[in-house]
Amino acid sequence: MSLTLNSPLDMHLHLRDDAMLSHVAPYTAEQFAGAMVMPNLLPPLTTKEAIDAYRKRIETATGRDDFRPYMTLFLKETLSYERLVELKPSIIAVKLYPSGVTTNSDTGLASIDVEGLRPTLEAMSELDIPLSIHGETNGFVMDREKEFMPIFEALAAAFPKLKIIMEHISSKEAITTLDKYPNLYATVTVHHLLLTLDDVIGGMLQPHTFCKPIIKTPADRDAIQRAVLSGHPKIMFGSDSAPHPKEKKESAAGSAGIFSAPVVLPLLADFFDRHGKLDLLQGFVSDHAQNIYGITPPEHIVTLEKAEWVVPEQIFDVVPLFAGQKISYRLVK
Ligand code: NCD
Ligand code: ZN
Repeated sequence: MSLTLNSPLDMHLHLRDDAMLSHVAPYTAEQFAGAMVMPNLLPPLTTKEAIDAYRKRIETATGRDDFRPYMTLFLKETLSYERLVELKPSIIAVKLYPSGVTTNSDTGLASIDVEGLRPTLEAMSELDIPLSIHGETNGFVMDREKEFMPIFEALAAAFPKLKIIMEHISSKEAITTLDKYPNLYATVTVHHLLLTLDDVIGGMLQPHTFCKPIIKTPADRDAIQRAVLSGHPKIMFGSDSAPHPKEKKESAAGSAGIFSAPVVLPLLADFFDRHGKLDLLQGFVSDHAQNIYGITPPEHIVTLEKAEWVVPEQIFDVVPLFAGQKISYRLVK
């Protein structure tokens, strides 16, 4: 049995730079027609010049014309209408990180003040530039996303024409908030769709499933599964694949981030198949994102077949999600 997907999109991806970029980018480029690339490099991407140069390095690393990187700007300071006009051809969205909530987010916003952000967000609304948000507070780790919901609500209400993307949602509360405002959208990762906190700390400590937001309870996972399996048009796939070298993960102070890029489409095919919903996979991995962002990705047909394979233990110096485990679908190359 095989299935084809038309121009799949990964709407939340970390590609890093230099050697890491050249090793990880091909895994995404062979499975996807495009990906929204996160700006949390060191230093973060805050200028048009830096973004354009990074796009070129990604294009060199992937080396294919049927893969398009969709770039983002790291929101560090207010942005004038004029600066946004200049940035618009180079970016698909502006990314907001609250300071300190995840990897390389220290220079993000120290506080989210709706009125202080008004000039920037009104200009973005007018120019139709979406705002992508890592929605977590600095509170107790399991409650950080839930605690951020009033901020999503305040922003969605104050800027009704601004498209706001709730990135990598991981909680049942996020699904409820998503449905309250027409201008809220969300990405869902494969790990928040399939795993629970038991897969991180339920047995032996699993550093390779440690990420932000932390993977949560069965009730949270079930709420995300129900929303995705309903074909929710405001929910799109974003892997949040975030590679860190093995020694940074298997460490006394392990980095947050899961390298899922090599396995995402096979895992999604298996998940939708098990639930008898393979017909909804195309929407989740491409059509919803095309509608939400108003993009037409390159033509790139991807074929998957139902055939078991074992995920490599290590790729470059990174341990991928499901390393050493069997997956029932594989990419036809
Ligand atoms: C990401 C990273 O490593 O860049 N880490 C993560 O745990 N998801 C950053 C992020 O998206 O939060
Ligand atoms: Zn991310």
